[in-house]
Amino acid sequence: MTTQEVSGTTALVTGASRGLGRGIAVALAQAGANVVGVARDRGRLEELRAQLGDVFIPVVADAADPVTAGELIDEYRPRTLVLNAGAAPLPRPLHQQTWQTFSRNWDVDVQHVFGWTREALLRPLEPGSLVVAMSSGAALRGSPLSGGYAGAKATIRFITAYAAEESERSALGIRFVSLLPQLTPATSLGAAGAAAYAARQGVDIAAFLEGFGPALTPEQAGKAIVDLAAGSGGEQGSYLLTAAGLSQVP
Ligand SMILES: NC(=O)c1ccc[n+]([C@@H]2O[C@H](COP(=O)([O-])OP(=O)(O)OC[C@H]3O[C@@H](n4cnc5c(N)ncnc54)[C@H](OP(=O)(O)O)[C@@H]3O)[C@@H](O)[C@H]2O)c1
Repeated sequence: MTTQEVSGTTALVTGASRGLGRGIAVALAQAGANVVGVARDRGRLEELRAQLGDVFIPVVADAADPVTAGELIDEYRPRTLVLNAGAAPLPRPLHQQTWQTFSRNWDVDVQHVFGWTREALLRPLEPGSLVVAMSSGAALRGSPLSGGYAGAKATIRFITAYAAEESERSALGIRFVSLLPQLTPATSLGAAGAAAYAARQGVDIAAFLEGFGPALTPEQAGKAIVDLAAGSGGEQGSYLLTAAGLSQVP
């Protein structure tokens, strides 16, 4: 596909109401795709509809619900499926978590990636389709103030790799890619994480973030997804996502 060929295709983005998912939905719509945006906050989805017009179809739903995944894949058959929805981890050290807070990202992030990936393989989506799942840079190095977040995000990377293998074995022609964004204060989830790590180190947030380089923005995340959807941003596999763009994780 070229960028032009993204135009007129259907994309579905979970967690489209704010943060990185909103930037991804906007970028795909600007590239000419019809975008189905899934999230629980009706008001924010309606705002995005007002901004983007009829090319954006808001769907108020829990993305971790497996019935939702099956129904929306059957209805929209997306060419580009972005599994971005994620719960905000409770930013506390291990012993201040409960099992419920520790496992939150498993219940939401992992369960939703599992359910949608399974449906993408079962239907299956059309050859040439792309499924992108949001892992995290934390999957590579841990995240000691986020409960089970890093392990959940590492599992998302595994699920995506397993799905890529099934796609190849059955010659489905579906690309499965996981993205590992760098911590960014540009979203509410990232800002809470940055604040917690800065407080733990006894520095202010700006000083904590200095070592990270320029902050990843939702617009840059959107551009990376459009590049992947256009086939110009890599094939199967895992990619770090920073303000500088995509780089393959060995
Ligand atoms: N920001 C970072 O620094 C960073 C770094 C690495 C990875 N990531 C990952 O990137 C993804 C996006 O993060 P973000 O920073 O943009 O987070 P965010 O600003 O908190 O946005 C999260 C999005 O997910 C949606 N969501 C949460 N639970 C949902 C559910 N059960 N069903 C449907 N939608 C749900 C939220 O919408 P509603 O509340 O309206 O449902 C919202 O649109 C997440 O998977 C996150 O773990 C972020």
